[in-house]
Formats: sequence, C-alpha cells, structure tokens
Amino acid sequence: MKRSILYFLSILLLAGSGMSEDEDSDATEAPQAGANSTIVPTDYICRACVCKDGMVNCNNQNVQDFFSAADWAGLTDFKPLQVDLSNNELKSVTHVLELPIEILNLSRNSIDTMEKASFRDLQKIRVLDLSHNRLTSAALSPHVFEGRYSPEEYEPLATMRTLSLAYNDLHSINQDLFEHLTELTELDMSGNPLMFIDHVTLIAISSLPQLKVLRLRSCQLKEIPDKFLHTPRYLERLDISDNQLTAVPQELEETKNLVYLNINQNPIVRLDKKDEDFLGFPTLSKLKELHMSNMPELTYIGEGTLSGLENLESLHMCLNEKLSYIHPKALARVDGSGEAYVWPTLKELYIHSNNLSEVDSRLVARWNLLEAIDVSNNPYLCECSTQWMVDVLTTVVEMKKENASSLMVCQEPIEMRGKTMKHLHDIHRTMRCVDKYGNRPERDGAILMGCLIGVLLAVPIMLTIVLLWRRGYFAWIGASGPSDFHRAFYKRAPHDENNYI
Ligand SMILES: *[C@@H]1O[C@H](CO)[C@@H](O)[C@H](O)[C@H]1NC(C)=O
Ligand SMILES: *[C@@H]1O[C@H](CO)[C@@H](O)[C@H](O)[C@H]1NC(C)=O
Ligand SMILES: *[C@@H]1O[C@H](CO)[C@@H](O)[C@H](O)[C@H]1NC(C)=O
Ligand SMILES: *[C@@H]1O[C@H](CO)[C@@H](O)[C@H](O)[C@H]1NC(C)=O
Repeated sequence: MKRSILYFLSILLLAGSGMSEDEDSDATEAPQAGANSTIVPTDYICRACVCKDGMVNCNNQNVQDFFSAADWAGLTDFKPLQVDLSNNELKSVTHVLELPIEILNLSRNSIDTMEKASFRDLQKIRVLDLSHNRLTSAALSPHVFEGRYSPEEYEPLATMRTLSLAYNDLHSINQDLFEHLTELTELDMSGNPLMFIDHVTLIAISSLPQLKVLRLRSCQLKEIPDKFLHTPRYLERLDISDNQLTAVPQELEETKNLVYLNINQNPIVRLDKKDEDFLGFPTLSKLKELHMSNMPELTYIGEGTLSGLENLESLHMCLNEKLSYIHPKALARVDGSGEAYVWPTLKELYIHSNNLSEVDSRLVARWNLLEAIDVSNNPYLCECSTQWMVDVLTTVVEMKKENASSLMVCQEPIEMRGKTMKHLHDIHRTMRCVDKYGNRPERDGAILMGCLIGVLLAVPIMLTIVLLWRRGYFAWIGASGPSDFHRAFYKRAPHDENNYI
C-alpha cells in the first residue's frame, strides 16, 4: 500500500518537473505559447508600449488594432499583471491568450464589437475597464464574458470583481449579461443613456448577489424601480448622481448595508415627511456618508427627513443654490422611549454655498465632535437669533481651519452686509434683533426715545423762552451772549438722555 502511494507521488513529481521544464523551454527556446503551437510570438507589444514591473503601458500609443494571438504570446515571459490600452483607437476586442493579467484597461477607445469569450483564458482577471467606448446593447452579448468550463457554475469568469461599462451607448442590458460574472462586486454603468431601468436590466443587475458597489451616474434615470435593489443585499456604495430623480427613491430602503450614497445633481425639490411626493430618506441605518450637492431645485429639508440615517458621519449638502431651509431637527430622531431626541454622531458637515440664512445650533448634537466643517458662502442673517454663530460656531470652525470663519459673511440686515462672523466674533459684537418683517424694533425704539427726549426738552425750553420773553431779556441776548444760552441747552441734553436710555 505504502509503496504504491510513494510510486504514485514520484510519478506526480516527475510529471510536475517535466511540465515545468516544458514550460521553461517554451518560454526560452520554442517559438510557442500556451497550447497553440502554430503561434509565433512577436515582440510587437513591448516595442509599441512600455513593459516594466509587470505593467504593460500602452496608454495613448495610437494603437489601432487589438493585439493578435502572436503579439500576446510575446508577453508570456514578461508575465504582465496589468495591461493599459486606454486612449487608443481600438474598434474591436478579440480573444486574449492565457496570461496572468489582473487588470485590463480598454477605456477610451472606439470599441463596438467584442469576440465571444475574449477573456476566457485570463484566469486571474479582476478588473476590466471598458468605459468610454461605443458598446451598444446589441453588441454586448453575455457570451463576451464566457469563462472556462466549470462543473459547478456556468463557464464563470470567477476571478472578475470589477467591471466598468461606463460611458458607452447602452440603453438596456441583456438580462443574462452577467451570468458568467457571478462574483462581480463592483459595476459601473454610469453615463449610459438608460433613461429608465427596464425589466431586463433589472433582472441583469438583480443577478449579482455579491455586488457591493454600483454606479449609475448620468443615466438620465427618472426613478429607481421597486425590487431593483432587493437582490444585491451586500450593496455598500451607490452612486445615482446626475439623474432626473425628483424625489428620494424609497427603494433605497432595500439597501440595508449601504454605507455611501451619492444622490447629487438630481432635481429633487424638497424633503418633507408631510408631503408624499417628496418624502425624506428611508431608514438606512448603516449609511455613513451622504452626498446631496449641486441640486439646482432643492429648497427645503424638513423635520426628521434625515432621521433614518442614524449612523451618518459625513453629510455633504452644498452648492444647492436654492436651499434656504434646513429644519433644526432634520437629523434628529425620537429615541426608543419616545420621549427624547437623538442625533447621529456627525464627523463631517459640509453645508457651504447654499442659500441658508442661518445655521441652527440644534442641527448637530455635539458641534465639538466634528472633525471637518464648512459652512461658508451662505447669505447669513446677522442678528440676535444667529448670535450663537458668532459666539460659538466661529470657534468650532476656526478650530478646524484658521481664518475659515472669515468666509461666513453677513448678507442681512443691510447695515451688517459684508461683515464677516470672524470679525464680529473678534470684536465681541452683540447683534440686534430684526423682527420678521425685516423692521428693526430697536431702531424704532431709538426713534421713539429721541422723540420723547425732544418733547421733554421742548417743554422746559419753551417755558424758559416764555419766561425770558416776559422779562424782556430778548433784546439783551440778541446783542451780547447767545453762546451762554446754547451752552446751557447742550449741557442739559446728555443729562436727560442718561435718564431715559
Ligand atoms: C491555434 O491558432 C489557430 C490559428 O491562429 C487557431 O485557428 C486555433 O484555434 C488555435 N488553437 C488553439 C488551441 O488555441
Ligand atoms: C483606465 O485608464 C483610464 C484613462 O487612462 C483611467 O482614467 C482609468 O482609471 C483606468 N482604469 C483602471 C481600472 O485603472
Ligand atoms: C434665497 O433665499 C431668499 C430668502 O431667504 C430668497 O428671497 C431668494 O430668492 C433665494 N435665492 C434663490 C436663488 O433661491
Ligand atoms: C489668518 O489671518 C491673519 C490676519 O489676517 C493672518 O495674519 C494669518 O496669517 C492668517 N492665517 C492663515 C493660516 O491664513
């Protein structure tokens, strides 16, 4: 028994060493590559491109034709891990010979056709970048991604993790497009004119249970359909920016593991729990980073509309030129007991370049726990209700970045326009109150006080004049010393003023 095992092992060893010898000789002497003995390798690729440190760099080398089998065969010795063919003029992709390539970059070409099973022999491929090409729905067949036969799965390209099809001409994708890419974790479909997610596209994306990152930027989407995000249960990052969404997609509720959401550049008008057309965010309890910037229509963030984001750390809500109101309790939620409010522990707050007239002190629970803050470039109202911004918020802002509070500038009331909160803080300025009609009650008060003083002064003056006139003093005054009289008059004024202010 033992002997037979030994025998078996030695045969294995011999076979192994024989094979490696074969490989060596293949590489050094024989003009062969892989299993195909008719291919004569060329050194074309490393002449046309730079081959160095496992990287074949053909970026922008005016390559017009996809490499032939013989060209690829010339790389057998070099053992490339990365091949960058971006920024060339390739029109089609054909089969690539067996090579240890992990990253293949075909971005920014004019590719509109791809051969069946082009990548079948790239047994290590992890990343395939096909962005910025001319692929259409018809040209992109599931067979393109066919891998080798496997007893368990359907000819998988099992190592493939990241695929970019961004900025092509895909209106829809074949429902089986990813049937060979069962382990895909990252998919970029941005910049394709999808317009809407049709049934087949929905099935295709739903067939990716391992998906962690999905990018659908600039796809002209008007809505995110129901069930779209149901299957990719591990989804962590979603980019749906620059689409035509008019409300926060309630389908996001399905993404229980979402950590990052980018919903920038969508024509969402308001978030308001009371308005069923513009509800806020559903519960996304793992979300850490939210981007809601560059929203040209956004005006209003209502109470509790961000309260489902209980672990939010980084809020980017900037460059929304119409955004003039964020409810003080936008982020606050009622706690389990139903009695108190709790806030997420924000670490980064970016609300610059909106149309906000104030930052409410209740927006964030612990301002001193912020690691980054930008509240600059808003048309602030500088009066008693925003005194806390001058007294406290400037200090928070300055702690993160020196002089940053000089970018917090007053817009209203008119006499404060252009003053910076840094300056107001430095001079310990106490700001007045402006009533809701934009009037200044304290100024009215001053006018009133002035009138009162005037009247009160007028009475004794009149009496004095009458008295003097009666006693016939006028002739004497006109001739000699009116200054004495005036001095007496001015002496009294400040005395009275002190009494009444
Ligand atoms: C070998 O190359 C020839 C011509 O290039 C091709 O027709 C054939 O399919 C190849 N065989 C294998 C096993 O790759
Ligand atoms: C591919 O190349 C393009 C352009 O050179 C670059 O922007 C992109 O990041 C590259 N993709 C990968 C996956 O490295
Ligand atoms: C900014 O807000 C003010 C009032 O707070 C409003 O009058 C103005 O029209 C707003 N600007 C824009 C661009 O929406
Ligand atoms: C902040 O402003 C002061 C006065 O304008 C200047 O002296 C100082 O160098 C500035 N600091 C920074 C970091 O810009």
